[in-house]
Amino acid sequence: MGTPAAESDRPVRPKRLVVLVSGSGSNLQAIIDACADDRLPAEVVAVVSNKADVFALQRADAAGVPAVHVGVHPDEDRGDYDARLADVVAGFDPDLVVLAGWMRILTMSFLGWFPSRVVNLHPALPGELPGTRAIERAWDEALAGTRATTGAMVHLVPDEGVDDGPVLGTATVTIDVGDGFDAFAAAMHATEHALLVDTLTALCTTSPDRTPDLTEVTA
Ligand code: GRF
Repeated sequence: MGTPAAESDRPVRPKRLVVLVSGSGSNLQAIIDACADDRLPAEVVAVVSNKADVFALQRADAAGVPAVHVGVHPDEDRGDYDARLADVVAGFDPDLVVLAGWMRILTMSFLGWFPSRVVNLHPALPGELPGTRAIERAWDEALAGTRATTGAMVHLVPDEGVDDGPVLGTATVTIDVGDGFDAFAAAMHATEHALLVDTLTALCTTSPDRTPDLTEVTA
């Protein structure tokens, strides 16, 4: 019998990612690109959307990744939808479920199936601006003179808390109101893309019994 390989010598099996989306999918694209050029040791095994006509599904298709629409049935409650969604996602056997622009709050009917495996991206720093339109709200506060910085975070989703959970990575963005909203929004999106890829890379290269160090990206 040979000597067992040291942990660092063992080949890293690419992690299986299922990405949940609801919109344009620019963050999904950042993940797909990072997998393709071997920056991220992972494979996107499916993209699942709650909306039918979103560009993210076309991006998945173009990358040769199964693109699945799981729409809400009339009269279906959140728990029933989430159980059905969990069934679809579990069918792809993910190591991680990545919420990248996923615009529904998940209940335990979904989360209970993937403990410590659901990761969310939010365009604000921990504890700040939970919910939708966080980029616009940060901008409005900057215009009002009550905010000078914001950022993005990636965190685990243990329960139904909105944009809340153990933080895995953060990035700070300075708001320069003189540059206009479009430049600020572009900086936020670029920061999100880099942070999401870097944080997933840390998760995918850390052995399961170790907590990865906090990822920090400087915009
Ligand atoms: C991102 O800003 C994400 O953080 C937010 O929605 C946006 C989705 O962008 N929750 P995209 O669909 O990845 O382009």
